[in-house]
Amino acid sequence: MVSDITTQTTFSYSSRAKNAVDQPISYLMTLALTQPELISLAAGFVDYQTLPGADTDTLMHQILSDPAAAQAALQYGRTQGLTELRQEAYKHLAKCDGLSPDQFPGCPDCVALTTGSQQMLHLLADLLVDPGDIVITAWPSYFVYTGALSIFGATVRSVDLDEDGIIPEKLDALLAQIAQEGNLHRVKMLYTCTHHQNPTGITLSAERRPQLLDIVKKYSTDHRILLLEDNAYRELTYQGDAPVSIKSFDTDNEFVALLHTYSKPFAPGLKTGYGLLPADLCDKAMMLKDGRDFGSANLSQHLLLQAVLKGAFEQQVKTLCKAYTKKRDAMLEALDEHLGDFLPEQTHWTHPTGGLYVWLTLPESIDTSRHGPLFKRAVELGMLYVPGDYCYPADPTRTVPKNQIRLSFGVPTEQQNRDGVKLLAQAIKDVAGT
Ligand SMILES: Cc1ncc(COP(=O)(O)O)c(C=O)c1O
Repeated sequence: MVSDITTQTTFSYSSRAKNAVDQPISYLMTLALTQPELISLAAGFVDYQTLPGADTDTLMHQILSDPAAAQAALQYGRTQGLTELRQEAYKHLAKCDGLSPDQFPGCPDCVALTTGSQQMLHLLADLLVDPGDIVITAWPSYFVYTGALSIFGATVRSVDLDEDGIIPEKLDALLAQIAQEGNLHRVKMLYTCTHHQNPTGITLSAERRPQLLDIVKKYSTDHRILLLEDNAYRELTYQGDAPVSIKSFDTDNEFVALLHTYSKPFAPGLKTGYGLLPADLCDKAMMLKDGRDFGSANLSQHLLLQAVLKGAFEQQVKTLCKAYTKKRDAMLEALDEHLGDFLPEQTHWTHPTGGLYVWLTLPESIDTSRHGPLFKRAVELGMLYVPGDYCYPADPTRTVPKNQIRLSFGVPTEQQNRDGVKLLAQAIKDVAGT
């Protein structure tokens, strides 16, 4: 962050700007950049080696060497995004759930393309959240989003996860409690990352999906509570059949916003995501987006359309799943090898069926936070992790645990995953004195 104040006065910031603070993760990014010798199991970036450079080159050349295609791609597009890509995106959503487009809720007109799915997350918060409104998230949750929620002054309340995802009974109990406190009118959204969650890697079970929707409907008494289903990691599924989306149960397209991205399954540099929204919400979101940018990068959308139509997207997903499976396995094997016999009653980690993350829980006596002894020791030994406390939203009713770690296996090579876990295990044993 660059601050070089040379005048006596400051700007008079809006309340939103005052709520915007430096994300703690930026410290880790700086550390990784300034000390490249560190093995970083921290960054949630994608694998560099498999990024689709050659395909992108070919497709871009095809677009730009055809004058009509080049003009279309280099001109402004529509606020809602390229029609043909929205149609393909909608087909893709249906296909992910084993359905044909005519069996799937909504329609391509309710799909909007945005500057990454992050922009859609932001737009939806902007549309629904006034300061003091309540957003419910998992505990822990995707921290960049919960950080964004604080800009809007949202009060975050949270629901525990187990190995099957958000626990429906706990969600029901929380909403009942909020209703009893007379604050149900302030609940605007339930945010959930349903497949291979960031940060835990946990997938919401098939059984719980319609249950969450039913609970949201039950408490939508004076307004609709939005169920925001962030499916950023859906395509990165390495084993088993991924359960169908919650959206597929929202047959009248009323309650669920389903968000996907082209960042994880293709290339984050194109910064394109999309959401299938209830029609009225989509209209409103586009009014907001009109004033923001009146459309995301058109060239990226034209490129992605060709990637989808020519099969490069599907091929890339296969390539990624193969590469990430090996990396995930390397990390899990190393955890077994180096931490398998370390206080097994209190030490455990998730076994994700996809995505980019493993969530490690250590004995409560081991402080994993940035200013704790473990982080310092891990950096001394040569590795970086994300302290688990970064991943907990600021729920005013709860105390954040400090004995967990998010590990990302996407960027490091298989060997670096193994080496990084070995160094981490050494650091853990050093600070535990075992
Ligand atoms: C859970 C989740 N949702 C959304 C995003 C945003 O991704 P993008 O804006 O690149 O689509 C990310 C990025 O890491 C993520 O982890």
